[in-house]
Amino acid sequence: MQIIRTIAKLRTALEGQASIAFVPTMGNLHAGHIHLVELAKQHAECIVISIFVNPLQFGPNEDLANYPRTLDADCEKLKATGAQIVFIPEVKEIYPDFDGVSLGQTMLITSPPIANMLCGAARPGHFDGVATVVMKLFNIVMPQVAVFGKKDFQQLFIIRELVRQFNLPIHIIAGETVREDSGLAMSSRNGYLTANQKSEASLLQQCLKNIVHHIQHDDTDFMGLSQSASQILTNQGWQVDYVSVRNALTLEAASTEDQCMVVLAAAKLGNTRLIDNIDFFR
Ligand code: PAJ
Repeated sequence: MQIIRTIAKLRTALEGQASIAFVPTMGNLHAGHIHLVELAKQHAECIVISIFVNPLQFGPNEDLANYPRTLDADCEKLKATGAQIVFIPEVKEIYPDFDGVSLGQTMLITSPPIANMLCGAARPGHFDGVATVVMKLFNIVMPQVAVFGKKDFQQLFIIRELVRQFNLPIHIIAGETVREDSGLAMSSRNGYLTANQKSEASLLQQCLKNIVHHIQHDDTDFMGLSQSASQILTNQGWQVDYVSVRNALTLEAASTEDQCMVVLAAAKLGNTRLIDNIDFFR
């Protein structure tokens, strides 16, 4: 497995590759990320994983400085998958006009209005940062296939829009959310949780499962279901950002005609913001 840090070296290494599948990450890899790499292997000969903590997608009061960086362990895990290339660029390599404070002349992608709801409402600019870095990484790696997790359902939606609206010749594959035995969705941010919080954290998925169960038994009071889940979480000390039932294909608020649905939530347990979702058919 080659570890490559510059765009020029990456381009040389990828020259003549017939098929490339790409898995972008911010590192601190867990079984969810590895699942995406395994999926990628089904679609191409050459697998490229990027590890880049993208400063543009963090808000001013978010965890950019503390985001877990575990490069050696990450590379060990990736080596075991048989992946060919890990791309680990410095910030300057990706954003030459960004000095760490000011963006300077950096050009950004403006996400569509759908990026201003759900997670985007609490994290202004977040999806612009995601879309910008993913566009750049796509142009650097030039894969035929790229794999993203359903864990970040709204992100996956925006990446699909990026591909559709900028006519990118890239096939996007969605990986299922990998969970702990407790049901807690794996996340690099789970490392911020205390042992106690970790056992409480599975409540988020239980609340979502409960909503799915009700909807699949013909309850169509989507707002009422979301509000009671929100109340349960609040009563247990969570700070709820949103619980919402949506059309899985458009991310618009669900209607009673929808078949393809997703229930999504974001909430803080202590200082840790967790997100989760379940997509399902009615
Ligand atoms: P990161 O949080 O490292 O996640 C990288 C990829 O792993 C994303 O596609 C995410 O949806 C997926 N993932 C995370 N947890 C998962 C789980 N439990 N099961 C399955 N897949 C999971 O998402 C990002 O990084 C960044 O925003 C990025 C796309 C790299 C752009 O900077």
